[in-house]
Amino acid sequence: MVGIIGAMDEEVDVLKEQMEVACIEEQASLAFYVGKLFGQQAVVVRCGIGKVNAAICTQIMIDKFNVDMVINTGVAGALSHTLNIGDIVISKDTLQYDMDATGFGYKLGEIPRMDESCFVADACLVALAQKASESIDTETNVFVERIVTGDQFISDSDKKEALIKTFGGFCTEMEGASIGQVCYLNKMPYVVIRSISDKADQSAEMNYAEFVEVAVHNSTKMIEGMLHLL
Ligand code: ADE
Repeated sequence: MVGIIGAMDEEVDVLKEQMEVACIEEQASLAFYVGKLFGQQAVVVRCGIGKVNAAICTQIMIDKFNVDMVINTGVAGALSHTLNIGDIVISKDTLQYDMDATGFGYKLGEIPRMDESCFVADACLVALAQKASESIDTETNVFVERIVTGDQFISDSDKKEALIKTFGGFCTEMEGASIGQVCYLNKMPYVVIRSISDKADQSAEMNYAEFVEVAVHNSTKMIEGMLHLL
């Protein structure tokens, strides 16, 4: 069973439309769509925006839906200057940039009393995503890099530069590393697939509105390709 999580309706609606839905189960105000998607048994859900929503959803998916893997799909803001709108970032790993226990001597982003704060994506799922990206159109660049997560929509060049400098972030979003953390704790393979909707600077709000559609299209194509290859 493949678990697919997107934060917003627009990130999962196309997948739900393509699905042969067997049932819809509700829990914690979330609707889990269970059925067949591109030839695979799958459960698709909109988790809502932010780390808490994503974590709750991921744990339910693991506990109740018997998933073997979790894929997080959606859009992200570019941090790396090499990224263009529509490009794909496959997570090498994810971390939460807004975890701050520096007052206790921890590094920024380090989660106190945990073995890991940077959650490495499953190598097989990363390879699968890379393979799937071969059939995506040629002007879309695909990268395997670090995705940094926090409960902030980044639309400020100074914050953007800090995320690059402090954490080596390649793109930023608001759920990936909390899904990563839940998967790490449950020993569940996971990967995050994001397409760039904006450049996380002063133009971000405007660009986001204009480009979210193309970004969602590209991330959805990646999911389709991956499920076909499974
Ligand atoms: N998702 C898409 N763009 C984003 C941004 N600039 N900051 C946080 N999450 C995002």
